[in-house]
Amino acid sequence: LKYFKKSELVKLYNVSDKTVRNWIEATKSGKLNLELYEKDGKSFIADTVYNYSSLMNLATRSRKYRNSLNHHRVEPLAGFYQLYSFEEIIDIVNNLEMHREIPQQYRYCGTPAATYWNEYLLKLDRAGSDNMLSATQELLQLDLPYIDKIAERHASINVVDVGVGNGLAVKAFLGALQRTGKLKKYVGIDISLPLLDTTRENIATWFSGNLETNLYRRDITHQRFAEAIVHNMESEDTINIVLFLGGILGNFKAPGDVLRVIRDSMGSNDILIMSDKLDNEYSRRFFDFNIESDKSALPFYSKYILDLLGLKESYYRVEQQYELIRRQRTICIRLTSSLSLSFDIGRFNKVVEMQKGERILLWRGGHFTTESSVGILSSNGFEVLRSTKVGDKQEFSLFISKVKKISSSESLAT
Ligand SMILES: C[S@@+](CC[C@H](N)C(=O)[O-])C[C@H]1O[C@@H](n2cnc3c(N)ncnc32)[C@H](O)[C@@H]1O
Repeated sequence: LKYFKKSELVKLYNVSDKTVRNWIEATKSGKLNLELYEKDGKSFIADTVYNYSSLMNLATRSRKYRNSLNHHRVEPLAGFYQLYSFEEIIDIVNNLEMHREIPQQYRYCGTPAATYWNEYLLKLDRAGSDNMLSATQELLQLDLPYIDKIAERHASINVVDVGVGNGLAVKAFLGALQRTGKLKKYVGIDISLPLLDTTRENIATWFSGNLETNLYRRDITHQRFAEAIVHNMESEDTINIVLFLGGILGNFKAPGDVLRVIRDSMGSNDILIMSDKLDNEYSRRFFDFNIESDKSALPFYSKYILDLLGLKESYYRVEQQYELIRRQRTICIRLTSSLSLSFDIGRFNKVVEMQKGERILLWRGGHFTTESSVGILSSNGFEVLRSTKVGDKQEFSLFISKVKKISSSESLAT
């Protein structure tokens, strides 16, 4: 006879461990009629058709009379519905329900969160060395002669910055390209409207209004930007230098999907420049995403989205770790009570049920080596032209690639 483990029933019927124990005890004392299965002196609830409907009714009843000390019914704040589009809300609901994850890109949306990230980048800028921002700036300077050489063959240059931050990473690079007289436009792609605004203001100030800047809100997990690139080209002979900086590839659940969105947005002349922090024992321990005024376990911009969802600090504790098997750092919350999170999605409410002890992932930083970076670029349609490393432990790297094309001999072959 098949039977359910306690943990299976907890998951299947969204009830607590204690509730399952109570059902077994009540059946033994004759108060319930479930079919039990005995094994090694222990009692289990049998996996039978007879039990299915009883379990369903029992679970519905137990959820209704749940102890409110251990269970909270939660609704997102009005600000949540104002900030995110309908499509984004559905994406957040689905990711919470199916993957127990809040996709990382949503934490940059909203003015308070973006202000925080801007301050974090300013903190890195003040620190001056051996961080992702300073290393990216240094790497771009080092590779400038090589990039110049590629651009030399083209009439004009546009820079397409994917994930703009506040523009600081590219300030000196843009200045150097502008001095060649060929730089025409700065095109920014980002999910965060306030970070796009900050970047627009910064570029206008740094270049005294002399660099045309066009910005586009896109979520690069699935939205291409080919038309934004083409609209901004002066002629067919404009080369687009597409930047993907700040080590963000490892933040995505499916980094390959993101690389394909970028690849499919690029033209045949264009090059991709990506910076990353490589795996080593020090980078595995790095979790310093706070600014000076914020000493909390959860960086403000991650907490901000939890606040918008109505999740109070008393409902969870924060966990951060390096997961060896998945080769990633993670920041998660572990629920200290069970929650029914009810989303108003128009015609009906969608309730996401989560149990005490479950973990919700807020951030991941997947770790790449030089080899695995080249591997993922190459398996997603890029040909890596060059890689450069800097840093005390050679942990920061820049990869310059172009889109792989089918050769004419290949396309002529039958
Ligand atoms: C770590 S910062 C890097 C900023 C900058 N490139 C640098 O090196 O300082 C990440 C940036 O990517 C943006 N971003 C993150 N996920 C995104 C997504 N799915 N689609 C578009 N932009 C995204 C964020 O809003 C933020 O501006």
